[in-house]
Amino acid sequence: MNLKDEYIKFFESKDHHHIPSAPVIPENDPTCLFNTAGMQPLVPYLMGEEHPNGTRLVSYQKCIRLTDLDEVGDKTHHTFFEMLGNWSLGDYFKEESIDYSYEFLTKVLNIPHEKLAVTVFKGDENSPVDEESVKHWKNHGIKDERIAYLGKEDNWWGPAGETGPCGPDSEIFYFNSKDEVPLKFDPEDKRWVEIWNNVFMEFYKDEKGNFSKLKKQNVDTGMGYERTVAVLEGVDDNYKTSIWTPIIKKIEELSKLPYENNEKSMRIVADHIRTSVFIAGDDSGIVPSNTDQGYILRRLIRRAINHARKLGIDLNSNWEQELLLLIIEMYKPYYNELERNKNVISEVLKNEKIKFSKTIDKGLKEFEKVVLRSENIINKDDAFKLYDTYGFPIELTLELATEMDITVDTEGFKEKFIEHQEKSRAGSEKRFKGGMGGDSYQNIKYHTCTHLLNAALKKVLAPTVHQKGSNITDERMRFDFSWDKKMTDEEKEKTEKLVNEYIQMGIPVEKLEMKKEEALKLGAEAMFLDKYGEDVTLYKIGDISLEFCGGPHVKNTNELGTFEIIKEEASSSGVRRIKAILK
Ligand code: ALA
Repeated sequence: MNLKDEYIKFFESKDHHHIPSAPVIPENDPTCLFNTAGMQPLVPYLMGEEHPNGTRLVSYQKCIRLTDLDEVGDKTHHTFFEMLGNWSLGDYFKEESIDYSYEFLTKVLNIPHEKLAVTVFKGDENSPVDEESVKHWKNHGIKDERIAYLGKEDNWWGPAGETGPCGPDSEIFYFNSKDEVPLKFDPEDKRWVEIWNNVFMEFYKDEKGNFSKLKKQNVDTGMGYERTVAVLEGVDDNYKTSIWTPIIKKIEELSKLPYENNEKSMRIVADHIRTSVFIAGDDSGIVPSNTDQGYILRRLIRRAINHARKLGIDLNSNWEQELLLLIIEMYKPYYNELERNKNVISEVLKNEKIKFSKTIDKGLKEFEKVVLRSENIINKDDAFKLYDTYGFPIELTLELATEMDITVDTEGFKEKFIEHQEKSRAGSEKRFKGGMGGDSYQNIKYHTCTHLLNAALKKVLAPTVHQKGSNITDERMRFDFSWDKKMTDEEKEKTEKLVNEYIQMGIPVEKLEMKKEEALKLGAEAMFLDKYGEDVTLYKIGDISLEFCGGPHVKNTNELGTFEIIKEEASSSGVRRIKAILK
C-alpha cells in the first residue's frame, strides 16, 4: 500500500479534486523562502476567492521547513517533507472533516481504534471550547479519557505568516509503542505521536493581532507523510522506513560503514541531499549563492559534504551524483520537474561540491588553529575569515565549535558580514525588503515588464485578468495569470504589440507611498492583499498601471528594449503562463 496514493484515492472518492503540489519555492509570495504547508498556495481561496477546481481539494505538497534544521540528525527531523492534505473551501466543516479522518485511519489504514487519541481547542476569548468536535469524535466511539483540551499554543493553527487565515484545530495522535496502550491519553507522553491535524479555519488574523471571522468556514488538514509511514511500518526511527532505506543503503555502500553508530552523519547526508535535489530541481532555477534560497541550498550541500567527509566518503568520487540520481528515480513519478531538471540538479551539486571540497581540508586545518588560539569563543574576525576565505557558512563553524564545546561571536560575525556586503554593494538587507531575488539590472527590467504585461493582458483579454505569480531570471520572465483558455495567436500578437507600445512611449515609472485604504480606492492592483501592512508602496506607470509592489523598477519604460512572447501555456487549472524575453 502506498500512503500517498491511498490518501488521494480516498478523498477523490469523497468528491475532492486532486490539485498538483505547488513548487517548493513559492511563486507569488516574496515573504516566504519556501512552501511550508499544503495550505500555503491556497491562501487566496481560504480568504474567499473562488478556486477553479471547486470547494473540495486534496493534494500531497512538498514542503521545506528550516526551523528544525539543527535538529536534523536525530530520528524524526527532516528539512524536506511531504504533507498530505484535504480542504473544504466553505463546503463541509467539522463533522465531515472528522468523519473522513476517522474513516481513512481506521478503514483504509486499518489503524486500531484503541490506538487513537485526539486533542481539541479548550476555548478562549476568540473562540469557545470546541464542543462540536468533541461530539463528532464521540460519535466514533472516542472516549472522554482519550480527548485532551488544550489552548492556543497547541490547538490553534496559523496564520502561516504574520497575517492570514487561521483557526482552532483538532489533532489526531497514534500510540506508537509496543507497550500496553494506557487508558488515559497524555499529550506529553512521547509514545503518543501526532499524525494528522484538522484545522477549522474560520478566522483571519490581521497585522494588529486581531481576529475576525472569514467569509466562509474552511477546513485545512495536514498529515505528515514521513511520520505516518514510520507509524504504519512500526519503526521508531523515520530513517528506517521504506522512504529512506534505499538512500541510507546507498550511503552505507559509499562509506563502507554500517548505519549503526553512524546514524547522525548518515541522516544528515540523506536529508540534506534530498532537500538540495528539490531546491535545485525547482523550475525557478535556484543556484547556491550567499542570499535567500541560494544560501540555504549552499548551506545544505556544504553541511552534507562535511558529514560525508566524516563518514570517510571520498569527496572526489561521484558520491553525490549516485545519491541524487537515486533520489530523482524515487521521486520522479510524483514530481516530474526532477526528471526535467535532472541535468541542472546534477551540475548544481557537482559544482558546489568541487568548489567546497577544494577548501574544506584547508578550512578545517585553519579551524583547528583558530580553536587553539581562542579561549572559549571564536572571535568575529576568525569566523569571518572561515566564511570568506574557506567558504564555511557561519552555521557550519557554529556546529564544529559546538562539538568542541566553544562558542562563536555570531553577532560580531553578522556585523562584519553586513559591512562587507555594503562594501561590495551587494546590499545584504535587500533580500528582506520583499521583491525580487537577484537585483541585477536585467532582472529589474523584467520586473517592470511584468507590470506592463499585466496591464496589456487586462486590455486584450478582460479587465478581470489578475496576476497569479511570476518568476524572473536574468534570461527570461515567467508570468502567471487567471485565464481559463489558451490564448489565440491574435491575442498573443496584440498583447506583444501593446507591451512594446508602452515601452516605446517612454513612460516614467513612479514610486508612491500611501495608506493601503487610499491605494485600494485608487483601484491599485494587488496580488496578495493581506500580505501588506497599513503603509504601502505602489508603482505607477503613467495611466497604464498602478500596482502594490516593493520594487525595484527601471526609471522609464524606454529602458526595456523589445518584448517578445516565447510561449503561452497552461500553468494550473484556470491559470495560464506566459514566458517572455526582452531583447
Ligand atoms: N496547515 C496545517 C499544518 O500545517 C494543517 O499543520
